[in-house]
Amino acid sequence: MTNVNNQENIAIRTVNLNLWYGSFQALFDVNLAIKQGIITSMIGPSGCGKSTVLRSVDRINERLGYVRIDGAIQVLDKNVYDADVDLAQLRKQVGMVFQRPNPLPISIFDNIIFGHRIHRSPEQKISRSEEEAIVEAALRRVLLWDKVKDKLKRKATLDLSLEERQKLCIARLLPVKPAVLLMDEPCSALDPKGTSAVEELIWELRGEYTILLVTHNMAQARRASDECVFMLMGRVMEHSKTDDMFVTPAKRETADYIEGRYG
Ligand SMILES: Nc1ncnc2c1ncn2[C@@H]1O[C@H](COP(=O)(O)OP(=O)(O)OP(=O)(O)O)[C@@H](O)[C@H]1O
Ligand SMILES: [Mg+2]
Repeated sequence: MTNVNNQENIAIRTVNLNLWYGSFQALFDVNLAIKQGIITSMIGPSGCGKSTVLRSVDRINERLGYVRIDGAIQVLDKNVYDADVDLAQLRKQVGMVFQRPNPLPISIFDNIIFGHRIHRSPEQKISRSEEEAIVEAALRRVLLWDKVKDKLKRKATLDLSLEERQKLCIARLLPVKPAVLLMDEPCSALDPKGTSAVEELIWELRGEYTILLVTHNMAQARRASDECVFMLMGRVMEHSKTDDMFVTPAKRETADYIEGRYG
């Protein structure tokens, strides 16, 4: 890795992370230090392991019985693969946004409060008006409140555009106060207008959350991130400030990728 300042707080750290799908090795000695409170984009050709890294951080990879991991992944200094890690607690800390917006087929209100209801302790008594305040705050945060405030009881899968659904999927993570948001090509299903709206929203959340954003869109990485990680064939090739990477990439492979010579 180059140009990464170690003085700052690190939200996600991987240490010599290797990962195999069966006998196929998808990650090789991945050492990442993702800083708190900024947006880090992750770029690289299809199949280089970007989604695999994200899915390892919140441990959804292991649902596949044939995944083996070696090395460590720390979220806020705690190794997420330690025996005493509570998966529910981990998922509360780490929110994930996918390529296709996937709201649950329940009301907009229930989508937003769903995670909060699951994660709060049974003793915690929350009134309806408190829930309403939580839902309103989350929807306001993603700039969706005015649009949906009169149809909170409508199914979220019915009359929202893709852009609005993706904003909703981001909003529903917020009530449990995650430390980290992982976003795997969150705009790739959206049209240009939707893309810039969701990009602006992601930028809005900067500072409050640590965001790791996978994208195939070079312009998006450039516009919407502070630091950038370039991966190639399961390895981290370069990690630097986004401006530096796009202006003076340290590696030949990075320059080739940025200039569109492959992938
Ligand atoms: N569930 C799986 N089982 C077996 N191999 C997998 C699985 N998921 C991913 N792989 C392989 O691991 C490698 C990395 O895949 P991954 O999905 O992480 O790449 P990516 O960088 O996210 O690609 P893309 O840009 O196309 O989304 C690829 O060779 C892929 O074929
Ligand atoms: Mg992917």
